[in-house]
Amino acid sequence: MNNKKTIFSGIQPSGALTLGSYLGAIKNWVEMSKNYNCYYCIVDMHAITVRHTPAELRRRTLEQLAQYIACGLDPEKNTIFIQSHVSAHAELCWVLSCYAMFGELSRMTQFKDKSAKNVDNINAGLFTYPVLMAADILLYNADLVPVGSDQKQHVELARDIANRFNGVYGDVFTMPEPYIPKVGARIMSLSNPEKKMSKSDEDTGGCVYLMQSPEEIMRNFKRAVTDSETSIRYDAENKPGISNLIQIYSAVSGKTFKEIEEEFAGRGYGDFKAAVGEAVVEMWCPIREEAQRIMKDKAYLEAVYRQGAQRAEYVAGKTLRKVYKKLGFVAR
Ligand code: TRP
Repeated sequence: MNNKKTIFSGIQPSGALTLGSYLGAIKNWVEMSKNYNCYYCIVDMHAITVRHTPAELRRRTLEQLAQYIACGLDPEKNTIFIQSHVSAHAELCWVLSCYAMFGELSRMTQFKDKSAKNVDNINAGLFTYPVLMAADILLYNADLVPVGSDQKQHVELARDIANRFNGVYGDVFTMPEPYIPKVGARIMSLSNPEKKMSKSDEDTGGCVYLMQSPEEIMRNFKRAVTDSETSIRYDAENKPGISNLIQIYSAVSGKTFKEIEEEFAGRGYGDFKAAVGEAVVEMWCPIREEAQRIMKDKAYLEAVYRQGAQRAEYVAGKTLRKVYKKLGFVAR
């Protein structure tokens, strides 16, 4: 053990990784892995709350693992693992579901959104999704949980559940804090800049994927929805499309919004869109090639996820045993 703080975060393997997941999450994870004790999980159990194709889930889970590594997450320095490999997640989820209230789960924005989108499949897993997420976080005594702003409510719920449990049984769980990165927290869809760029979006023109070819990426940028003005300046309220492109360009190049506005003063939207596209293509080329190489090395991937599961299991098992003891379950 060391005295570094602990971080836990996860991404569902429900779709190919997008520019949103890269800039909003993985790029920051790589940065944070220098100063924190990090658990990065591929949350496959969350991915079955909506109907899915098994072969695709399997392929995407492995692809996501390869991509995490290609993006620079070192499996020696971080615990990278697949959620379903550590049974403590499902077990703690059950316990916590007895400390999560029907009312508070009903108020979750994501539940309301997803039930509106899946009217013929509003299953109990969709409803208890945030409880499984609370289990993910609390098993590892995470101090910080890097998430997009849409997941803040779920981390707050995890705190409420932890508080309630600690209130009855003493200090069992560490209180997690949501950590919303300043840069890249909200990369919007290119085709509808009022909406977050989402890997499960049906409108694929709005999305840029890590595994897409440079030509496809350029095409999506060139078609990005903007506005009827001509000036390239940041104004999220009135110019969401251009502002989103400025945000992307800033995250990729490290330039400030002001520097970007100066660089493109007097130039047209077409020029700017192409420049942003090129910057993304250039950043991703080596990562994509590395991910493709790792994907082919099945033995290596297997070694990585086995080692990750082993490490995760050790910590998660300790927390679970403590919880079971507090609850009065007879020790095995
Ligand atoms: N619900 C998160 C999302 O859709 C993914 C997730 C599952 C997660 N468990 C987590 C994120 C634990 C952070 C911590 O983005």
